[in-house]
Amino acid sequence: MTMTRRPFTRLLATACLAAPLPLLAAAPAALDSDNETLARGAYLATASDCTACHTAPGGQPMAGGLEIASPLGAIIATNITPSKSHGIGDYSEADFVRALREGIRADGANLYPAMPYTAYGHLSDADIHALYVYFMEGVAPVDTPTAETALPFPMNLRVAMKGWNLLFHDAEPLEDDPERSAEWNRGRYLVEGPGHCSSCHTPRGFFMQERDDQALTGAQVGPWYAPDITPDVAAGIGSWRHDELVTYLRTGKLDQAQAAGSMAEAIEHSFQHLTEDDLGAIATYLEALPTAESSSQARSRFDHGEPGDELASFRGDGYAAGLSGDSRGAQLYSANCSSCHQADGSGTDDGYYPRLYQNGVLGDVNATNLIATILYGVDREVGDEHVFMPPFGEQPNAFNALNNDDVAVLANYLLARFGETDDDGHPILQVSADEVQEIREGGPRSPLILLARIGLGVGVVVLALLGLWLIRRRKARRR
Ligand code: HEC
Ligand code: HEC
Ligand code: HEC
Repeated sequence: MTMTRRPFTRLLATACLAAPLPLLAAAPAALDSDNETLARGAYLATASDCTACHTAPGGQPMAGGLEIASPLGAIIATNITPSKSHGIGDYSEADFVRALREGIRADGANLYPAMPYTAYGHLSDADIHALYVYFMEGVAPVDTPTAETALPFPMNLRVAMKGWNLLFHDAEPLEDDPERSAEWNRGRYLVEGPGHCSSCHTPRGFFMQERDDQALTGAQVGPWYAPDITPDVAAGIGSWRHDELVTYLRTGKLDQAQAAGSMAEAIEHSFQHLTEDDLGAIATYLEALPTAESSSQARSRFDHGEPGDELASFRGDGYAAGLSGDSRGAQLYSANCSSCHQADGSGTDDGYYPRLYQNGVLGDVNATNLIATILYGVDREVGDEHVFMPPFGEQPNAFNALNNDDVAVLANYLLARFGETDDDGHPILQVSADEVQEIREGGPRSPLILLARIGLGVGVVVLALLGLWLIRRRKARRR
């Protein structure tokens, strides 16, 4: 999944976070809330990033309407303001608990797991209570409807999710592990519950379920790739110090890694607002994760390439001549990128423009984020700082727009200079114009939809049969 949102909404979202207090006066007496519960609910809503999905571009906070691109089609987040006509104003606390824990709406219909109930199911009862109080009293009601989600058949049959839940959804409130430190336990809670890191960073199986055996080892999320964040030194972020990880979560910026795409949004709306203790706890938990057994990444992705200036070699050539010859990649780099990242790729001394060598995006064995960065740029507001790299793929008529072939040539040039190479010095990745087009269209689509359409909605039938089989198996076990 990925979220498409404009900066304008971010302002609204921030305004929403700051908004709750004046609304307190209108609190219905029945909820017996106190300021502490309300503040805790607001903090949890931020940590869980409810606003990321439930606020549309230019829309009112939590009033829904955002289209979340999933490999099966767009899923529209609903209005979760306490509006009685179009929001969750009529939700009882039990209804709210059921939506967050089990993915079931007040009317009994199943939600799609685009709503991360698979993670929120881990929240404690007290925290869900605080969230309920916050949503009922701290969020302004908005009486506008959102469009209905209309997935293609058979995924429009919400009942199929019952089978899916039986098979793949077993999140329960997390019990503290007494063998581990309080910090580790807090970190696990934040990562697996509110932070729902796995919904982006854990690869998904055939039925779009998270592969628990490969937790946090990296996954495609729309046009971006959420990399391996296990402590494996080669495949993951094992080479990062504890304080680097905390800094990345708070700012999205290190010498070796910068956050763009959906991670930039998560940092902007959610992680930068967490306490230093909570960010430290997240880092402590990630550092203690088991590492993956096999990986195609032989050497850390933060450890490739060095500064180098090939541009000098064609400086006498005309630009047009270069564009038709071998130096086309270098010409494209020189014309579009070097003003900020410098001719030798070393960025600027203050780090505002990052270095491109020993940079995770270039050193990865997956070129998704390199292509996506060129097409979509970087746009992240943290504290008072607005980090911005222009998109080179979005405006078809703009002077700086690059076509698929340009992007592929440029990416291959950069990978040869700063990426993983084989023993003969050749880059191990080769980006094609078709791959660029796929990222331009929002990332790979799920084969599930195609397969499910074959025959009599194989998807639903299979899910239902698997569901029945599981119920039987559970019953058999109980006997
Ligand atoms: C990653 C995106 C995402 C995040 C984050 C998210 N939601 Fe949702 N939520 C959705 C989508 C999409 C739907 C509608 C799903 C559907 O129609 O099946 C939804 C539906 C709901 C519903 C059901 C409302 C109805 O239509 O009756 C509730 C309640 C809800 N979300 C609460 C929350 C709360 C509270 C949070 C934060 C703790 C949250 N959501 C965070 C995507 C998200
Ligand atoms: C909405 C999707 C999403 C969520 C939720 C999310 N991430 Fe990410 N994350 C990404 C993407 C995409 C990237 C790659 C960003 C880039 O390189 O520009 C990323 C990058 C990272 C990186 C840097 C890895 C590298 O090699 O550069 C770390 C560390 C990280 N995420 C940790 C977390 C943690 C911890 C959580 C939960 C508390 C989390 N993320 C939640 C999408 C997400
Ligand atoms: C106007 C200045 C500017 C130009 C021109 C520019 N960049 Fe960037 N670039 C940035 C900034 C700013 C960042 C993000 C720094 C941060 O996140 O803190 C960035 C980040 C990146 C990253 C890391 C992204 C990530 O997710 O980790 C890559 C790779 C990159 N740029 C490549 C390019 C390429 C290739 C070009 C030419 C097509 C280019 N840049 C042109 C300013 C620029």
